[in-house]
Amino acid sequence: MSSMSKSPRILALANQKGGVGKTTTAINLGTALAAIGERVLIVDLDPQGNASTGLGIDHKSRKRSTYDVLVGDATLDQVLVETSVPRLWVAPSTLDLLGVELEIASSSDRAFRLKQAVRAYMAAAAAFNGDREDMPQFSYILVDCPPSLNLLTINAMAAANSVLVPLQCEFFALEGLSQLLSTVDQVKATLNPGLSIHGIVLTMYDPRNNLSGQVVADVREHMGDAVYDTVIPRNVRMSEAPSYGKPALLYDLKCSGSQAYLKLASEVIQRERRIRPEAA
Ligand SMILES: Nc1ncnc2c1ncn2[C@@H]1O[C@H](COP(=O)(O)OP(=O)(O)OP(=O)(O)O)[C@@H](O)[C@H]1O
Ligand SMILES: [Mg+2]
Repeated sequence: MSSMSKSPRILALANQKGGVGKTTTAINLGTALAAIGERVLIVDLDPQGNASTGLGIDHKSRKRSTYDVLVGDATLDQVLVETSVPRLWVAPSTLDLLGVELEIASSSDRAFRLKQAVRAYMAAAAAFNGDREDMPQFSYILVDCPPSLNLLTINAMAAANSVLVPLQCEFFALEGLSQLLSTVDQVKATLNPGLSIHGIVLTMYDPRNNLSGQVVADVREHMGDAVYDTVIPRNVRMSEAPSYGKPALLYDLKCSGSQAYLKLASEVIQRERRIRPEAA
C-alpha cells in the first residue's frame, strides 16, 4: 500500500485510433490497481463518456463533469463520483465536453486546465490529510482520452507523468503510432518536460488468428522494451461487462481478460518503481 503523502502517478491512456481498448484498459487497469490497494481516480476525458457508463455512473449522477472542471466552473472534488469498486473513483464526462475546445481555445492556459485542477485537488486533499472521505489522496490517476490528438488529449498529456498506449492486435496496429509518439515528443518539448512513455499494451489478442501473433512480434521488434509483457486477449466477457455497468474484473474475475488486467496492473506498478524509485 502506498503512503498518504505521495503525489499520484498520472497516466494518460491515449491513442488517436478509435476502439483500440483505451476505455476498457482505464476501467479494468483502474479496478485491478484498486484491488491491489491503490487509491485510483479515472478521469473520463472523452465526450462519449464510455468510462463513466462502463463504471455504472448513470447520466443523472453526472450533474457536473470534467467539462465543468476544464472550463473552470467546478473543482475536481465537486465532480468525483464513488464507484462500486472500493478505492476507485471517477470524474465522469458528459457530451458538453464536445464544445470545450472552442470555449477554452483562446485562453493561454488552455492546455493546463486538467493539470491545474489535479494540482489544486491534491493540495486540498493533502491539507485534509485523509480526514475527508470524499477527498481521497489518490495514488493513481488514469485519464481516459478520446480517439483524437485534440486539446483534451493534450490536457491529459500535459497533466500526466506518463502515457500508456493501448494498441490493438490488428493489421494496421503500428500505423498512426509514430504520429502519437511525435505528439508525445512535442508535448514533452513544450508543455511537460517530464513526460515519458509508460508502455504499450497490446489488446484484443486472438490466439486463433495467425495475424495477431505476427502483430505482437512486429510491435515488439519495433518498440522493444516499451511493450508490456502482458498481452490482453480478446475475450467476449470484456465487451459484455460495460452493459452491466461493471468492470470486467467484477463481472467475471476468472475470465482471461480480467486475469490479464491483473497482471498488467502489477507490471505497471513494477515499472513505476523503476521509473520513480523515490516514490515507491
Ligand atoms: N480484450 C477485449 N476483448 C474483447 N472486446 C474488447 C476487449 N477490449 C475492448 N473490447 C471491446 O472493443 C470495443 C472498443 O474498446 P474500447 O471502448 O475500450 O476502446 P477505446 O479505444 O476506448 O474506443 P474509443 O476510441 O471509441 O474511445 C468495445 O466494444 C470493447 O468492449
Ligand atoms: Mg474510449
